[in-house]
Amino acid sequence: MANHILKRNLRGVLLMGLVLGTVVPLEAAYSQGATPAKVVVAHRGASAYLPEHTLQAAAMAYAMGADFQEQDVVMTSDDQLIVWHDLTLDRNSDVRHKFPGRARDDGHFYVIDFTLEELRTLRVTEGYRLSDNGEEQQIYPERFPLWQGSFQIHTLAEQLELIQGLNRSTGRDVGIYPELKSPAFHHEHGKDIGLAVLTELKRFGYTNKDSNVYVQTFEFDELKRVKEQVQPALGIELKLVQLMGDDEDDYGWMLRPGGMQELAKFADGIGPEKGMIISADSTANNIIISTLVADAHEAGLQIHPYTFRADTGQVPAYARDFDHLLELFLVNAGVDGVFTDFPDRAVNFVKSQR
Ligand code: G3P
Ligand code: CA
Repeated sequence: MANHILKRNLRGVLLMGLVLGTVVPLEAAYSQGATPAKVVVAHRGASAYLPEHTLQAAAMAYAMGADFQEQDVVMTSDDQLIVWHDLTLDRNSDVRHKFPGRARDDGHFYVIDFTLEELRTLRVTEGYRLSDNGEEQQIYPERFPLWQGSFQIHTLAEQLELIQGLNRSTGRDVGIYPELKSPAFHHEHGKDIGLAVLTELKRFGYTNKDSNVYVQTFEFDELKRVKEQVQPALGIELKLVQLMGDDEDDYGWMLRPGGMQELAKFADGIGPEKGMIISADSTANNIIISTLVADAHEAGLQIHPYTFRADTGQVPAYARDFDHLLELFLVNAGVDGVFTDFPDRAVNFVKSQR
């Protein structure tokens, strides 16, 4: 987070710091209504347990009771929408073995250079990186083993069919949380991912603010275009979420006075990196909470930070454990929901607070 932002938030930081030593009235923090006041968003499915963005991971997250399922969406060369996080295929597939010679000059294999038919031939696995000597190193070593099982790339439509089918068979109403990945990159390649995703959502019946969906993106220009052009053209109006990191050039203005009010003209919520709410410089005895939650709420925006992971080394040292981390954010800082790779843990935590 930029220094000036921390300075601006200092008063809020101090005030919020006082709250930490007191008992927060949980009735105020958790509503008893039909719509959970605190939502659990399964980040890339139950990605702590099964390879991310597979239908199996989506089904597992559904069974774990997540309120929303996240779908990162990218486009193929033949304009199909697939559920996939990276613009490239390198981290989670065997593309370099199946399609040698199809990498770009930068050495990476891009989704947008492949047809859906080609992508369906790939074997999907847990995330890994290649070491300097070409060894595959699993990014989260305690997770599902590399190359075990049989997993494939699937389309946005296939995931929506799964979730809507489960909603029918279970009687639940689990929402979806699609992200437009790198819209500018898609535009540069002649593809309008905003229009394509919103058109697909409309086809599946997501048409208004009461529809159980949040559409998210890191790119404000695209969020604004979706709000002002794409949705009116389609005759729909969905809830939109502006994602943000700590990059001053892209997001600095949103954090300055009036920024949240300006955002609220286009968005219904924000999705900040969690360090923008509780500083990574916090210690067990000094939890530094910014005013971002208060600022967002004052502007009428929901706030769903990312990404909560319980893997070894992923819980910040200021928290005693993963549950304490959730407590600091959901109760003390007062966020409205969390993106997590461990939806079971977050669902259990939220239930324990009711
Ligand atoms: O969309 C919320 C969170 O997923 C943002 O980070 O990189 O995992 O898409 P990323
Ligand atoms: Ca995402």
